[in-house]
Amino acid sequence: MYNVCILQILTVAVSFSCKLQNWNPLTDNHVAALILARGGSKGIPLKNLVKIGNRSILNITLNTVLQVDFSSVWVSTDNERIFKEAAYVNVHWRSKESATDDAPSILGVLDFIRSHPEADVIALIQCTSPFIKKWYLMEAIWWINQGAECVFSVSSVYIIKHFVTVKSLHRSFHLRWLETEEGVQPLNFNIEKRPRRQDWNGELVENGMFYFVRRSVVTRGFLQSTRYTEANVKNV
Ligand SMILES: *[C@@H]1O[C@H](CO)[C@@H](O)[C@H](O)[C@H]1NC(C)=O
Ligand SMILES: *[C@@H]1O[C@H](CO)[C@@H](O)[C@H](O)[C@H]1NC(C)=O
Repeated sequence: MYNVCILQILTVAVSFSCKLQNWNPLTDNHVAALILARGGSKGIPLKNLVKIGNRSILNITLNTVLQVDFSSVWVSTDNERIFKEAAYVNVHWRSKESATDDAPSILGVLDFIRSHPEADVIALIQCTSPFIKKWYLMEAIWWINQGAECVFSVSSVYIIKHFVTVKSLHRSFHLRWLETEEGVQPLNFNIEKRPRRQDWNGELVENGMFYFVRRSVVTRGFLQSTRYTEANVKNV
């Protein structure tokens, strides 16, 4: 029996699709980091400028992003104050349609790639996760350079096994229910065969820290693709 205890919840890149057939690493490798930072959000206005200590979360995130070898770094915004805060990187003025309160991120990314034909891969980074580490992003770039079509972050944990700390995927074993008009229905299990913990591998939980995605996936309207292999996940 292993001596296993959960130390700290961390977040890393772990999930991606299989390799592309017609991908050329010499020509198709402009990786553009993109932060979508709208001004007028209904929830918390200018939430990207919220401060931790003396620095805005946008400043903290950009500081990390600038330590990583991206081909270009962009903030896409519709707001003057965010424009000023992004003084050290490129700014893309976001179109009105893509910057409404209910516009999903994919619209912001599509708006960006329309005027940036050079971007082969878009690394969408959320600055509402200011605890992002540069090596998460470096790991993701590494997978992209191996030909991955998309890389996104899910929660992971550090555990101690035999007194050695190892990084491992955090798997959720929650049995989830959906409320419907008629009552409730199980979402991820069968009530006649309720799984015990040892019966399944649990679920991976996206943490929204980043999404690296190839242009071809974005133009189809997606930030992710679902093809991936377990072997790849284990290697991270
Ligand atoms: C934060 O900024 C203010 C004004 O610029 C300064 O007086 C203060 O020392 C700063 N605090 C920290 C923790 O850097
Ligand atoms: C973050 O803010 C500090 C203090 O104002 C500034 O010196 C630094 O250049 C900023 N970093 C970025 C990436 O904008």
